[in-house]
Amino acid sequence: MGIVKTVAVIGLGRVGLPLALSFADRGYRVIGVEKQSATVDSIRSGAMPFHETGTQELLERVLPSGRLECTTRVADAASADHIVLTLGTPALAHIEIDISDIRRVLDELLPLLREGQTLILRSTVAPGTTEWLAGYLEQRRGFAIGEDVFVAHVPERIAENHFLEEIASLPCIVGGVGEGSAARAGDLFECFGTEIVHTSPVQAELAKIWTNILRYTHFAVPNLLMMNCEQYGANVFEVIDLINHDYPRGGMAQPGLTAGTCLRKDFAFSEERSSAPGMLLAVSRVHESLPLFLVEGLKRRTGGTLRGRKVAVLGLSFKRDSDDVRDSLSFKLMRLLERELAHVARHDPHVPEQSEPLETALAGADAVIVATNHSAFDGVLRQVPSEALVVDPWNMTGSGQVFAYASELAVA
Ligand SMILES: NC(=O)c1ccc[n+]([C@@H]2O[C@H](COP(=O)([O-])OP(=O)(O)OC[C@H]3O[C@@H](n4cnc5c(N)ncnc54)[C@H](O)[C@@H]3O)[C@@H](O)[C@H]2O)c1
Repeated sequence: MGIVKTVAVIGLGRVGLPLALSFADRGYRVIGVEKQSATVDSIRSGAMPFHETGTQELLERVLPSGRLECTTRVADAASADHIVLTLGTPALAHIEIDISDIRRVLDELLPLLREGQTLILRSTVAPGTTEWLAGYLEQRRGFAIGEDVFVAHVPERIAENHFLEEIASLPCIVGGVGEGSAARAGDLFECFGTEIVHTSPVQAELAKIWTNILRYTHFAVPNLLMMNCEQYGANVFEVIDLINHDYPRGGMAQPGLTAGTCLRKDFAFSEERSSAPGMLLAVSRVHESLPLFLVEGLKRRTGGTLRGRKVAVLGLSFKRDSDDVRDSLSFKLMRLLERELAHVARHDPHVPEQSEPLETALAGADAVIVATNHSAFDGVLRQVPSEALVVDPWNMTGSGQVFAYASELAVA
């Protein structure tokens, strides 16, 4: 690498911290900036603030090297050669990207930036945001972007819990503002050894958000089919088998609660300027209506009311074997159950602080809803009271039925 360059990573969340550790592991000097001092304290003490496969060991390896320095001050990032922004980009209720975190950080950096530095947007953003960022720097500091200061979008496409394997395997998309920016951003990410694919900033932005839109849409179809099957008294798993069985153009996914901090909002970054307004909102509405579908299906099978009944919800995180509860539909499901005056018990082995033990949650339950397909729920049916109604959109129990009494189900 020649002279060791310094990389600042601003926003040490689910994306930023594993990335900062990975840069340090590849030999860079890294300045990690995070506004939450509890997170900085946790990192300094050698404890990952969340679970991400392999990163605890990586943190323990990186810390003694002295290559990672953590701070709460954005200004400390200004000394770096490369500044990577891994800040959150939620969607506003107005169906519009919320870039306020990015703007706040840019405003702090603005007076400190100097020629030769590279600013990389790693967050997921709406099309046009990278050019806006470049224009912002040009307008307020008079920099010629691509000559004095370099700006690129290098979107993060890893799936949670697969960071370390995917940072070293996924092609790295680089959308540089001008050739100079593309070259510098490419040089930085070369350390991960994957193919660097150059494109324009807007194409990089579109590629990232449409990667997620594709997944969100892909899972809406079986979920809509599940609701459709309920109307006809049909079995969704059997219909999906009929569709896919030996059919060369099949490939229907399985149903399940689909949400999470990325899928649930990234479609809005297209929808804010969509030429087919509403199409992706409809996809979102399919997923968002699933908790109500499960509650209504449960009610229909329990005499039309859930008042006073005990319902155990298994799984709080939005994703299998993850501890990430952000934008999980389990919470919407529980709120809806509470509005039916049901007694809600909850259990998630990955979220112990918000859980009760499995045995307590299941004891005396009139119904059990498998809300997340955690591998820990394999064989959970054995522990479910035989008179309980099991709601299992994931087919975790292997029973092949979304709604069935435990007593009717064969224990695998
Ligand atoms: N989580 C994923 O799996 C994933 C995958 C791909 C892309 N993304 C995208 O990456 C971006 C980051 O996502 P995330 O899940 O890591 O979010 P996150 O909320 O976990 O991390 C963002 C971090 O930035 C910090 N922060 C906010 N303002 C700050 C400031 N002024 N100074 C310093 N720190 C500040 C927050 O405290 C937080 O820790 C988003 O745009 C997201 O859409 C996420």
